Amino acid sequence: MDSGRFEGKVALVTGAASGIGRATALAFAREGARVVVVDVNAAAAQETADSIAASGAKSVACVADVSDPAACEAMVARTVAAFGRLDIAVNNAGIPAGFGGDFLDTSADLWRRVIDVNLSGVFWAMRAEVPALKAAGGGAIVNTASVASLVAGKGMASYVAAKHGVAGLTKAAALDLIGHGIRVNAVCPGAIDTAMLAPLMADANVAAQVAGSIPAGRVGRPDEIAAAILFLCSPAASYAVGQLMLLDGGVSLA
Ligand SMILES: NC(=O)c1ccc[n+]([C@@H]2O[C@H](COP(=O)([O-])OP(=O)(O)OC[C@H]3O[C@@H](n4cnc5c(N)ncnc54)[C@H](O)[C@@H]3O)[C@@H](O)[C@H]2O)c1
Repeated sequence: MDSGRFEGKVALVTGAASGIGRATALAFAREGARVVVVDVNAAAAQETADSIAASGAKSVACVADVSDPAACEAMVARTVAAFGRLDIAVNNAGIPAGFGGDFLDTSADLWRRVIDVNLSGVFWAMRAEVPALKAAGGGAIVNTASVASLVAGKGMASYVAAKHGVAGLTKAAALDLIGHGIRVNAVCPGAIDTAMLAPLMADANVAAQVAGSIPAGRVGRPDEIAAAILFLCSPAASYAVGQLMLLDGGVSLA
């Protein structure tokens, strides 16, 4: 264990079988939390929970599709059954909507699925989490938004609309919940080296172009986003309410 910043705390992370969510789950465990690894991918969620357990921390895997309100209720029930409480929730599960392309490439099915998972999924998760956070006497929620919560990208209408929605939802929930001792914030990653970005980065020329367009000169790492999520959930961020923390290597400055 690195330190006991989250000793005695129970953290739930959605989309924790891969990428940013997995890095966040591992980081919470390293710092003393018991971690519920939520994902639609059962095998990968179990693998993440097993590697946490192998490090000596406590973790359970939980299969849930965050676009299903009943599944979100069940993931919180599983958390409380396993560990007795919920202190921290990271609503991170998300899907891509393709990159580039024409506005009319957004089919009805793609629009509905991206809004269902990336926006409604955050709402259903928070709605299920809040009673447990209140029962614990307060806590912290961090939603994974995106640089696409603040600026648009070409050919990404459904994704940009969903992530702008997450930004608004984060601020509205922060206002509603701060009186209950629950701080709600969001991280807004730029391009991060995960499975979501893999189709884009598979082409070496495109990868070089992407890196070249980022003032920091490279895409980010999942652990760099996890570190910010842990900060927002820690007592050091006790006055951060409804913030959208940009972690994009400077891409939105230009
Ligand atoms: N990688 C980037 O460049 C980037 C940039 C900005 C924001 N984000 C956001 O970060 C979050 C994590 O993405 P990532 O880059 O780590 O991608 P990833 O594909 O590595 O991980 C996403 C995880 O979410 C899970 N998931 C997908 N749909 C789900 C559902 N309905 N219910 C539960 N789990 C589900 C997947 O199985 C996967 O394990 C997403 O919300 C994404 O939009 C990523």
